[in-house]
Amino acid sequence: MKILVIGSGGREHALIWKLRQSPRVTKIYCAPGNGGIADEAECVAVDVKSLDSMVALANQIQPDLTIVGPELPLMLGLVDEFTRRGWRTFGPTRAAAQLETSKSFAKEFLQRHRIPTAHYAICDSSQQVRDALGHFHTPIVVKADGLAAGKGVVIAKSKDEAATVANEMLSGRMLGEAGSRVVLEEFLEGDELSFLVVSDGERVAPLVAAQDHKRVGDGDSGPNTGGMGAYTTRTIVDDQMRDWLLTHIARPVVAGMKAEGTEYKGVLYCGLMMTARGPMVLEFNCRFGDPETQPILMRLESDLIEAMEASIDGRTSDGDFKWSNDAAVCVVMASGGYPGAYEAGKRITGLDDAAKLDGVKVFHASTSKRDNAFYTSGGRVLGVTARAAELETAVQRAYEACAKIGFEGAHYRKDIAARALKKN
Ligand code: AMP
Ligand code: GLY
Repeated sequence: MKILVIGSGGREHALIWKLRQSPRVTKIYCAPGNGGIADEAECVAVDVKSLDSMVALANQIQPDLTIVGPELPLMLGLVDEFTRRGWRTFGPTRAAAQLETSKSFAKEFLQRHRIPTAHYAICDSSQQVRDALGHFHTPIVVKADGLAAGKGVVIAKSKDEAATVANEMLSGRMLGEAGSRVVLEEFLEGDELSFLVVSDGERVAPLVAAQDHKRVGDGDSGPNTGGMGAYTTRTIVDDQMRDWLLTHIARPVVAGMKAEGTEYKGVLYCGLMMTARGPMVLEFNCRFGDPETQPILMRLESDLIEAMEASIDGRTSDGDFKWSNDAAVCVVMASGGYPGAYEAGKRITGLDDAAKLDGVKVFHASTSKRDNAFYTSGGRVLGVTARAAELETAVQRAYEACAKIGFEGAHYRKDIAARALKKN
């Protein structure tokens, strides 16, 4: 089976690492991939912002299965177009992907289907923002409606600040078209949880839950990032909570989408806040999470291809994934300055030593390879991931591996999974 994976990050590296374990896979292409991925798949050039470019590539490769990492190709309608051309593709259509690509669509959908989420107001003008702010307590969460690569959410401490941020977004100065509509939202407190399922449009198969660490600094300080690390354990949610999340969130979302004529197939990522009032939906993503996928897939013991094919063919079932009871953790090593401006092209050392540690796998998020050496090529550079029977050991191993790796300006959080360790 020839597989085409679209994307270039740590998530795609983890997907490929797992796909290679399937006896059915004969060849994997990654477009565009990165230096580390090139060791495990054939990297081919593509412009992920251009549907034409991706169609032209698939025409050459004739993949038996296409898997999309990032949201942009899904928003461009890759699944619709590939499926129309007879290429089997895992993921939601453009219309179904609106659960991620439009926050106002997601909020109104949640409200229509009485799925728990924060109170909100959708605003298209400064006047609407002024009127709506009267109904909120501070802090207030201001969100751009469209895709903003993790920069579309601001937590405003005062109503004045919320109005200023909302107006900046509406003016197009801050985020362009993505901010031409804003969602104001009640601030929720609690632990965040990433709960992913795979759906065939009707049924769902849960993945093990994970927790991301979105802020750049220890103790959740500093600005938001794409995610600085994640962990998963057998106790992160118990069976009762998993059943609750399936019954009250994942299944109603899939049933609601089907009832509205926008059947949802592929991965549904539910970003949740576990509040005192119960779990509430913060956001949906229509794809695998990054970096959550790295530790999640390290615990997966069954064949990923089988579960993806079940989704495409409409035969997903509860038990499509088999999991190890082990814990896994991923620590992201980032370029100096990230999530702000950073320099690329720094030589990375120590990767071979890190890879020798028991249970450790270093996924490459943005690296390039020249003359047998790896160089940084983006903000999040590596996802140093470890699996062990106990979370404590997995965390120790991941940090041992990080200590062996170096590049100029490298930084990473020292407290990934620390709150979970304290609870144990
Ligand atoms: P989103 O893109 O909607 O997931 O928002 C990005 C991050 O902002 C989330 O992962 C949370 O950390 C935070 N956030 C979003 N919405 C809320 C909310 N209503 N209350 C508190 N924090 C939020
Ligand atoms: N880790 C958050 C995301 O994938 O959106």
